[in-house]
This record gives sequence, C-alpha cells and structure tokens, in this order.
Amino acid sequence: MNARVVLPGDQQRLLQGLPGVQALHVGPWRLALVALDGIGALSAPPRFLTPDELQVWGRLRFEKRRREWLGGRLVAKAAVSDFLVGQGQSPPAFSAIPIHNSRDSHDRGRPQCPLAPFVSISHSHGFAVAVAASQPVGVDLERTRGFSPSAIDSVFTTEENDHINRLSYAQRNPARTLNWCCKEAVMKSIGRGVLGWFSDFELIAGHAGTETLQWRCSRRLQARLPGKPRLWSAQVEDYSVVLAAMDSQQEGRVVA
Ligand SMILES: CC(C)(COP(=O)(O)OP(=O)(O)OC[C@H]1O[C@@H](n2cnc3c(N)ncnc32)[C@H](O)[C@@H]1OP(=O)(O)O)[C@@H](O)C(=O)NCCC(=O)NCCS
Repeated sequence: MNARVVLPGDQQRLLQGLPGVQALHVGPWRLALVALDGIGALSAPPRFLTPDELQVWGRLRFEKRRREWLGGRLVAKAAVSDFLVGQGQSPPAFSAIPIHNSRDSHDRGRPQCPLAPFVSISHSHGFAVAVAASQPVGVDLERTRGFSPSAIDSVFTTEENDHINRLSYAQRNPARTLNWCCKEAVMKSIGRGVLGWFSDFELIAGHAGTETLQWRCSRRLQARLPGKPRLWSAQVEDYSVVLAAMDSQQEGRVVA
C-alpha cells in the first residue's frame, strides 16, 4: 500500500528522520500511517520511545509483534503530535509523548496518552495507522480477507449477509472486510473488542470510499455509546480503513 497523501510542510518537519510516516485521509480525518518493514530495520533501541515504552519493547519476543507494537507507537505519537499542532500547541519530541495501553477491566488494551483525550491504533499486514482526537475515536485497518462459512454466520447479521450475497463474487470479500472494520472501529471507539458484540452493529448502507457509512445498532450497544458515532471509510489498494468518531455535538448523551 502506498499512501497517496503527502504531508504538509509543518508535519513533514515534525516527522523528519522517522521511517516513512505519512498522512492518510479518511473522510475529514487525517491519520498517521507507517509501513512496518521500515520499522523492522531498526537495530538499536528506537529513540522515539519513552523509558517505560522501551521496557515494554524489550519484553516483546516475537518479531511480528515487535514491529506491530512499535509501528503502532510511532503512528500514535505522530497522530498526537498532529492533534496538538491542530490545537495550536507545539508538540514535544516523540520520546516525551507516552502511549500506553489501559489496564482497566472496562477498556483493557485501549491506547491512551496524557496529551490527547482519545487515541486509536490498528495494524494489519505490514502497516500501522493511528488517530488522535478530542472525541472518542476508533480506527480499524484490514487487508481484504476471506471469512470461513462459520465466521460469516457468526460475525455478520442476516441483513448484512443478504446485502453482501447480492454482490458479485469478487466484491464479497472486500465488502465483508469493510463491514468487519466498521464493527471493530465502533467497538474500539468505546474501548472494547468486538468479541460478543458482532450482531449488535449492522452496516446498512455505504461502500468503501470517503462517504459516511450508515448503520444501526442494538439497544444494549446504544446504551454504551456516549454519542452517535459517524463512520468514514477508505479503500487503499486491497486494504480497508474505517474510522468511527463520536459526533462531538451529541457527545455525552445516548442516541436512540
Ligand atoms: C483487540 C481488538 C480491539 C482489536 O484487535 P485486532 O483487530 O485484531 O487488531 P488491530 O491491529 O486492529 O488493533 C490492535 C490495537 O487495538 C488497540 N486496542 C486493544 N484493546 C483495545 C480496546 N479495548 N479498546 C480500544 N482499542 C484497543 C491497541 O492499541 C492494539 O494495538 P497495540 O496492542 O499494539 O497497542 C479486538 O477487537 C479483538 O479482540 N478482536 C478479535 C479479533 C477476532 O475476533 N477475530 C476473529 C474473527 S472471525
């Protein structure tokens, strides 16, 4: 995947010297994206980590996980930096932008940063993306994938499957991947994983692209949403990216 977006000058300067971080536009949002093969070439401990992060990195044993984790930190720091610039602030060095994962039971694993209210990270097949925002956000990146018959039955609702089955055979896996990303992004925006929540979210209209996607959700999911998320998607080569962001105007109340 080649990100087709060139960073504006100020952001370019911020990211100078770091391996290939680029901006990826999804609807009105600007995400930070990095190719993980550039990350894997680092031999010395990366200078952009905080002392706590260096300890975590040192404990990661598997190469794939090391790359994904490191790429996730890098893009999350870039996204926080970009967020601070957008707020009119001067961002500190990346080594002073801590990104850690929540240990609380209600949102275990959710990335957090004291310098930005909300951060979300995703990695898939060689790439990592992240976004930082003042409202709850969730991002999910997936390379187009197949789903087994049992996964199709358990992950997607009857209506979603009916819609997908009306598409040509070649369009089905991209459509399922996009649908999957939507579920992941919405659940990440509230600090949860998708397991146990598959049928609580239903995609009802929209194709990969920059338009807003339409969806509905169950009452139990509504009850956990602090606002009404809007979804945007982008298709870059064979990857889908979905960003779910709480509508800031409706933040703080449940939308029926
Ligand atoms: C963990 C989960 C949030 C996302 O996992 P994923 O899609 O496999 O991985 P992604 O790369 O998109 O996202 C991983 C990132 O999500 C973030 N994350 C983890 N837990 C989170 C939570 N509770 N809330 C928000 N974000 C979270 C982390 O930043 C993590 O990256 P990091 O550990 O390097 O910091 C969750 O949805 C999950 O468990 N998925 C299970 C997948 C599954 O069921 N597969 C079978 C399908 S048939």
